[in-house]
Amino acid sequence: MEKTLSIVKPDGVEKNVIGEVIRRFESKDIKVVGIKMVKLSKEQAEGFYAVHKERPFFGSLTDFMSSGPCVLMVLEGENVIPRARKIMGATNPEEADNGTIRKDFASDIEHNIVHGSDSPESADYEINYFFNQLETV
Ligand code: CMP
Repeated sequence: MEKTLSIVKPDGVEKNVIGEVIRRFESKDIKVVGIKMVKLSKEQAEGFYAVHKERPFFGSLTDFMSSGPCVLMVLEGENVIPRARKIMGATNPEEADNGTIRKDFASDIEHNIVHGSDSPESADYEINYFFNQLETV
């Protein structure tokens, strides 16, 4: 069993698709084993996306991620990291396959509704960034 961190970003919360995002994961036999809603500070968003700090979009990405509430989730399942990313679709919704979350709901590469860890190492960092041991089952 593998774990990953997923986030319904502020645009997903604003568009009322929290339940739809969860439904798409659960319908593929992925379990939610931790969940909470938070409004990140700019500093918390910068820490989470530290790996992107040299990228030109870092300032705008962290402004966006701290602009409204997010839903943070720990997901569990076999090969859940690649499987959750397939359900989400490509980072850029213009390149996302039909039927994926980002194809259906995202407006652009920054406002792309949902986040999912891209490797076991980042999943470990990201889960521990937001959840302590008592907050996952
Ligand atoms: P996410 O999966 O959360 O990981 C990093 C995020 O950076 C990504 O989704 C996008 O929201 C954002 N991102 C990646 N590339 C770009 C880009 N070229 N311009 C703006 N935002 C980007």
